[in-house]
Amino acid sequence: MCGIVAYSGSSDEVLPTLISGLKRLEYRGYDSAGVAIQSGKKIEVRKAVGKIVELEQAIATKPIHSSGSVGIAHIRWATHGLATVHNAHPHSSADRRIWLVHNGIIENYQEIRSQLEKQGIKFESETDTEVVAKLIGTLYSGDIRAAVLQAIKQLKGAYALAVVSQDEPGRLIGVKLASPMVVGVGHDEMIIASDVSAIIDRTKKVIYLEDGELIDVRGSDYEIVGFDEQPAEHKVEQIDWDLEAATKQGFDSFLLKEIMEQPRAIEDSIRGRIVLDDAMVKFGGLIDVRDRLKDIDQVVLLGIGTSYYSAKLGELYFNALTDIPTVAVMAPEFRYNKNNIGKNTWLIALSQSGETADTIAAIEEAKRHGVLATGIVNVVGSTIARITDAGVYNHIGPEISVASTKAFTSQSLILLMHAILLGRSDGLDFGQAKSLLQKISQLPGTIAKVLEQCDEIGAIAHKYEKAHNLLYIGRQYNYPVALEGALKIKEISYTHAEGLSAGELKHGFIALVDEHLPTIALATADALSDKMMANIEEVKARKGPVVAVANEKLSIADDTIVVPSIGNDLLQPIVNNIALQIFAYSVARARGLNIDQPRNLAKSVTVE
Ligand code: G6P
Repeated sequence: MCGIVAYSGSSDEVLPTLISGLKRLEYRGYDSAGVAIQSGKKIEVRKAVGKIVELEQAIATKPIHSSGSVGIAHIRWATHGLATVHNAHPHSSADRRIWLVHNGIIENYQEIRSQLEKQGIKFESETDTEVVAKLIGTLYSGDIRAAVLQAIKQLKGAYALAVVSQDEPGRLIGVKLASPMVVGVGHDEMIIASDVSAIIDRTKKVIYLEDGELIDVRGSDYEIVGFDEQPAEHKVEQIDWDLEAATKQGFDSFLLKEIMEQPRAIEDSIRGRIVLDDAMVKFGGLIDVRDRLKDIDQVVLLGIGTSYYSAKLGELYFNALTDIPTVAVMAPEFRYNKNNIGKNTWLIALSQSGETADTIAAIEEAKRHGVLATGIVNVVGSTIARITDAGVYNHIGPEISVASTKAFTSQSLILLMHAILLGRSDGLDFGQAKSLLQKISQLPGTIAKVLEQCDEIGAIAHKYEKAHNLLYIGRQYNYPVALEGALKIKEISYTHAEGLSAGELKHGFIALVDEHLPTIALATADALSDKMMANIEEVKARKGPVVAVANEKLSIADDTIVVPSIGNDLLQPIVNNIALQIFAYSVARARGLNIDQPRNLAKSVTVE
């Protein structure tokens, strides 16, 4: 979803840094892009609909000669108004002297727009953002920081804004409230961006701005203040991953790279967190809240998209291994229901990006009830990591492809480890915990064996490449994986798919089954294998093609994706899901689609 990049430094570097920064934010999802750069006494602007290459084309057609030291840039994911050049950022004040880019949403923009229109101000776009630019313009009298601070008093909503004024060359203002903003502190240069991937090739030193803060940059000097103008202290932090982690490394897509690197990513998620001799789990990030964990009487797992499906799997884990009632709740629904939560509720929020607006809003609502809120988050320093009381990082490196893969695997596993942690203080047997932890240590190796079969899985997927619809069926621990498998193929191959409990089949879905509707059946050996076989029979009796995911070839199925057995019902679905990821990838690739940036989707959905 929208991303901003702003630069202050050498004039030769302004444009290349902005463009390369935007390219590194591309994965967030967008449909137009633009830049504004100080050039001579003026600010020059170029915008384009479509990909960043269109913007580069627009710049090539009408070059910008950067003579100043600052510039701002943006990729836009349309919310208010279509993806057009007029709606693309940067937006300007009425006199076109002040320009800004925005990530977030201004909830009261209509109200402010009407007031400004009454003062005779004309608007060029349908966006909420333009209102902010015009408003700052009306308040400006030579000091951009003062005008921004005055303007934001009137704004309701979420914003990360980068603002420049042609009357103050070399000055760049960033403000943040409920939208991500990180500042790279380079050698004689500063980069402000929506996330670290836009910064990492220039510097690993960053400052995470807090909500309600403003940064005033002049050259490589900066000052951070609160919205009340009081100085704010910040330490410069070091990013612990490098540019290599954010490149494709020879794979045709980030998605494939992220699928293939799962053995190492999962090793990193587990490392140092298992104490086998005590049959215990150790999460450094939860040490500060361990006393509160003793009084927990309810667990709520929160997430959306893939993070919700791992929460669904986690719900089953907690209910199997502890006596504490656990429920997974879809983040956008949370605020609108009575969740019966209280101070002894443990809310665990799952989010790869740590920036999903619905999840953030749900955490904030839950915190009003006094819950213990922790996170399972991948992006270090992200909003969810900061607003929760404590938490555990996935440590899987950046996930760039819009569709989430390695995050699901890591989240599910870390949830299982949370359930063991809680279970061990709540009656979970030493032997059972130890054997589960031993199996967890085997997971990276078992995943590697699935990955070795990438070509075989791809060959099966090609047979079903033209299907318009698919059913994914699973039972018990495989049910959330059926949901996630269906989501993956919808997201990247635009194939309609439904994930369901195999037990649901007879209650409606079977009406759809015929020779044109393939069913993907998660049929690895487990406690419910017999029931799954009966469900497959039901599909075959109606001539439905069946692709089984099983530990050995199933004669009843048309095709079998053979996956290794990990010898544990709780962990096997995580293994099975890797096969479904490869299946979805193979279909999308055969269809020639943009695998990393599927149409209409955004990696990090920062508006509700
Ligand atoms: C978007 C992404 C999904 C992701 C979901 C939740 O919909 O396209 O891939 O699962 O957001 O994101 P989060 O960062 O909170 O895990």
